Amino acid sequence: DTAEKGGYPDFMLKEIHEQPRVIRDTLAGRLDGGSISIDELDMSSEELHLVDRVYIIACGTSYHAGLIAKNLIEAWARIPCEVEVASEFRYRDPIITPTTLVVAVSQSGETADTLAAIRDARVKGAKVFGITNVVGSPVARESDGVIYTKANKEIAVASTKSFLGQVVSLTLLALLLGQSHGTLTTRQIKLLFSELADTAEQVERILADDSAIQEAARACADATSALFIGRGMGSAISYEGALKLKEISYLHAEAYPAGEMKHGPIALIDEGFPVIAIATRGPVYDKVVSNLQESRARGAMVVAVATEGDEEIKRHADHVIYIPKVRDAFSPITASVPLQMFARCIALERGCDVDQPRNLAKSVTVE
Ligand code: G6P
Repeated sequence: DTAEKGGYPDFMLKEIHEQPRVIRDTLAGRLDGGSISIDELDMSSEELHLVDRVYIIACGTSYHAGLIAKNLIEAWARIPCEVEVASEFRYRDPIITPTTLVVAVSQSGETADTLAAIRDARVKGAKVFGITNVVGSPVARESDGVIYTKANKEIAVASTKSFLGQVVSLTLLALLLGQSHGTLTTRQIKLLFSELADTAEQVERILADDSAIQEAARACADATSALFIGRGMGSAISYEGALKLKEISYLHAEAYPAGEMKHGPIALIDEGFPVIAIATRGPVYDKVVSNLQESRARGAMVVAVATEGDEEIKRHADHVIYIPKVRDAFSPITASVPLQMFARCIALERGCDVDQPRNLAKSVTVE
């Protein structure tokens, strides 16, 4: 057992530590000269150029990878992109034309709702790309093209390394669409790709010192509820942070775009209520800081995930978890990692089995 876990106390921690390797493997061979190459997609650049609408469909953690990708696809390729949970998508009548690209994201490649959504989309004439971790899985077989996330087998039920593999794969897809739509120059693509590759080392640095994460986790472990907030990329990251926490620690957590706090969740805040904020330096930093001030004025205990070197944030937070500075587009890769570790530490503090949470299954092959 210990050998299988590579010397780690649980699979979750082992898999969290594999993430720099997953980033490197997912990117290997993808930049050919100055262009992104994803040959497995089996779509000519002319066909790609015609894509005028993207739907990303997925469940659970994979859905959160989609929320991140929406921002990148719209920013870099200027194509409207919607993200939808598969169990909703399949039961409504989405607008699908021959130039619609459906991207189905599934770690296991066998989630029943995601598969059904793929079948429906293809019947309606969409081209479907699958992003999965399992070679030869139904999602891979039933899609027109597939990208493998190179996470290797994931054992812990709550997904960590597969999620990162999905985010990196979807980032590649966004770059490819930017390339095919002429909205990114070769120079921009090279620069973005090289910064994307640098995240492997940045994640290694985060993994090397978990003391601030442990301290913040201990402070939150006895709470009955927690709120995760962020804006822009930060809001997508908070959804995944909250999901990870509730999955493995059974501590009720919800995520909200920080700007929506005043429309409801702020009523939850009283003395000591944990508010976990994605407060990295970026276009919405100041706005998030004002949400932290509002939270603290009501007694919240604030944990901020912030950018290294940001001293100002200490005035607005009880606990600060610093991560290396990256471009906003890549902040989900770095900021998600401490939140995975945070959830794991809280779960352990609460005596939970982090690899096999109650009531959850690794793959959900029934509706
Ligand atoms: C289950 C797992 C989650 C996963 C979700 C979607 O709920 O417990 O970790 O995110 O299914 O699975 P998929 O394999 O389609 O990504």
